[in-house]
Amino acid sequence: MSSAASNIDAYWMPFTANRDFKAKPRVITGASGHYYTTADGTKLYDLFSGLWTSGLGHCHRKIVAAVQKQVAELDYCMSFQVTNNKAIELADRVVAMAPEGLDHCFFTNSGSESVDTALKIALGYHRARGEGHRTRLIGRERGYHGVNFGGMSVGGIVPNRVAFSANLIPGVDHIGHTQDLGRNAFSRGLPEHGAELANDLQRLCDLHGGSNIAAVIVEPVAGSTGVLPPPVGYLERLREICDAHGILLIFDEVITAFGRLGTPFGADRLGVTPDIITAAKGLTNGVIPMGAVIVRDSIYDAFMQGPANMIELFHGYTYSGHPVAAAAGLATLDVYDEEGTFEQAAALEQHFEDLLHSFADHKHVVDVRNFGLMGAIEMAPRDGAPGARGGETHKKCFWEEQLVVRNGMDTLQFSPFLNSNPDEMEQAFAAIRRVLDSID
Ligand SMILES: Cc1ncc(COP(=O)(O)O)c(C=O)c1O
Repeated sequence: MSSAASNIDAYWMPFTANRDFKAKPRVITGASGHYYTTADGTKLYDLFSGLWTSGLGHCHRKIVAAVQKQVAELDYCMSFQVTNNKAIELADRVVAMAPEGLDHCFFTNSGSESVDTALKIALGYHRARGEGHRTRLIGRERGYHGVNFGGMSVGGIVPNRVAFSANLIPGVDHIGHTQDLGRNAFSRGLPEHGAELANDLQRLCDLHGGSNIAAVIVEPVAGSTGVLPPPVGYLERLREICDAHGILLIFDEVITAFGRLGTPFGADRLGVTPDIITAAKGLTNGVIPMGAVIVRDSIYDAFMQGPANMIELFHGYTYSGHPVAAAAGLATLDVYDEEGTFEQAAALEQHFEDLLHSFADHKHVVDVRNFGLMGAIEMAPRDGAPGARGGETHKKCFWEEQLVVRNGMDTLQFSPFLNSNPDEMEQAFAAIRRVLDSID
């Protein structure tokens, strides 16, 4: 039997400073509701609800039961040429919730796969319509669209790209990001200034020719870069420019779908309907990996041409529509309905906003941002040590306050449970204040 130390050395952790982590590992062994537990029985409050995934809390009884039942009933069946009943049912349920006109759903296993699938669908759609010259894909600086080559290429977080820069997919360009501390610092909800930043898309149309652009992909509220809600009017302007040039608008809703903004999809809350939505995370409450790409009828219909015995889209995963994942998805959607989860999330928003903005006066803090149940507290970096202040906050919260908080460099990010208890949320933010007060 190997020791705990040698075990952990075998594990190459994702998006983690492995050596620093392994010097003093933070290992979770159990979870229930809003708390994690560690091997020694310590309970930790999870202020990130998994990784933006688990809005209903951990180990929800109904989802656990559905997964247990499904795995004993149908564990797997081939996903090409044959399918399973649960995948069909879930696709139908998802499109019933989606914005009007988005009536077809393709399943993947993650957000990254949803994004690459959406980009391929966009390219295939234009080609099927005889516009195969539309090959350019546009992302946005500071966007996060997962880690596969397509998503990484349209993504705009520099460290995620830098080691692979010569091998990113060709024909991609980016519009500028929307952060503007000078005009919008400490905005509550959508920032007032910056709708005109969407005109950067018009600039790229002028540069490349709008008729050469296949699709634009943005997160309606940028998450991983540190929560950047769109300026008022910005998404509307993007939509207008896309329409003027025949460009597909893709909303990457891997975070914002399924209640994070108090509505089924971010598009509902923000009042702008894209042509394609990518989702994952909240689709199954994070219990079993699963993603989805939801498309407009006209996109699906464009593929449904030619001989009916031929495959229309040469794309798919062994685990597309996996029955156990689909059962988890169906149970999750049931719980959202039965418990009124999206309404619960909407009702928590003001309190969450007030708690976050109570940090506006803190000496380390340079900005506070929030929309729905997404929030960020941005701290100034220490001289010569960017990320150190955020990293120390994360570790102190874990070890001293039994609280799991995420930091991206010096920005603390928050994704509370959609059904959070306001008292617990208050206690968590009181703990964060103690930690910020205690560090340089
Ligand atoms: C907007 C967005 N797109 C894509 C992804 C990638 O999802 P995954 O890690 O499941 O591949 C994420 C993950 O956080 C995300 O936030």
